[in-house]
Amino acid sequence: MMSKQTKNIVLGISAGIAAYRMYDLVGELKRLGNNVTVILTKDARNFVSELPLKVLSSNPVYCEMFSAELQSKPIHIELADSTDLILISPATADIIAKMATGICDELITNVLLASRCPVYIAPAMNTNMWEHFTTQKNIETLVTKLGYKIIPPEEGDLACGYTGMGHIASNEKIIKTILYGEFDTKPLYGKKVIVTAGGTREAIDPVRFIGNRSSGKMGIALADAAYNMGAEVVLVSTVPCEKKYQVIEVESAQEMQEVIESEFDKADALIMAAAVSDFRPIIASKQKIKKKNEDINLELTRNPDILEILGRTKRDKQIIIGFSAESENIEKNAKEKLEKKKIDMIIANDITVPETGFESDENAVIILTRDGKKEILQRQPKTQIARYITTRLSEIFDSIKEVKKT
Ligand code: C5P
Repeated sequence: MMSKQTKNIVLGISAGIAAYRMYDLVGELKRLGNNVTVILTKDARNFVSELPLKVLSSNPVYCEMFSAELQSKPIHIELADSTDLILISPATADIIAKMATGICDELITNVLLASRCPVYIAPAMNTNMWEHFTTQKNIETLVTKLGYKIIPPEEGDLACGYTGMGHIASNEKIIKTILYGEFDTKPLYGKKVIVTAGGTREAIDPVRFIGNRSSGKMGIALADAAYNMGAEVVLVSTVPCEKKYQVIEVESAQEMQEVIESEFDKADALIMAAAVSDFRPIIASKQKIKKKNEDINLELTRNPDILEILGRTKRDKQIIIGFSAESENIEKNAKEKLEKKKIDMIIANDITVPETGFESDENAVIILTRDGKKEILQRQPKTQIARYITTRLSEIFDSIKEVKKT
């Protein structure tokens, strides 16, 4: 008798180096009492051999659409009708693109179109290919339009020499997901996170302003990372951008403060990555200030320190993360701000290093937390730093939960 979990599984293997791991996966699925039928893409045969997969699964291994000796009924229909679930693992960028667009030049994509069963995808590829707009768009289509479930790739050392996102999920995780429905719950799911990005502009007159060199890249990367981890994101940005989450465009520090204060009550976290101007002209002239043959004096007044105001008034469970752009005594100054502004984490960077910080795609930071911990992140893409920070944020939420439990 097959146990309740026992299933007829079609495993589609596409042409990635992670294909070799499927020998073990097939063996394990079979050991757990499942009936596994393997379909290889044509190119996958470069990475795995049919014979061991045949032996391990005790089933024929399919690849070609048309085979006189194997079929009486069209094989893609026979396989589609008899399977309880389809797993594509490893799923390359190519097979994902084919799935998203319905291209049927492989047996496995025909089976997918002909079937009505749950489909799971375990992608594995080079980091840039995974993060590419097209791949992400295709994944979104598979998830939102077709209801396919993604077993996300992980960070790690990749066969292509890169270190980053794209490593196939472990066989254990794949099995837990497809057999026992244990999804990688998005760690920030259910959390509302406000992120600020860019540099504020303080009007002098209708054409001139006091600004700074912030590009908004770090803040936007943080908002993307939080969104990808399942958070409801509100990005308060001086830089216009179109996103799948809510973006509120602001210009001045006061506008930024207004938006944040109206959103913060319902938020679980605030990440202040924006470079907020500390001063603004007391009077912003309604008309363009005329050039005269004399100097002019601009009278400036202090802008509210948004971080400090919210740090003082926040509820215990709300987490606030600030940034500290420094040109000297980086750690010491950041530590002082962490304490003075009563926030939970501060990310400090050295703005005198040209390759990192303002306008750059990369950053190198020191992370200080309220519990006295210090972490140094060496120069790396801002997207990677953002993922690290949002992961740390999810860990802080977890630790709050644990404290509550005990
Ligand atoms: O004190 P300092 O301006 O260096 O602190 C930087 C941090 O404080 C950043 O997170 C920035 O977004 C925030 N900040 C703020 N309001 C200001 C100035 C800075 O929230 N007026």
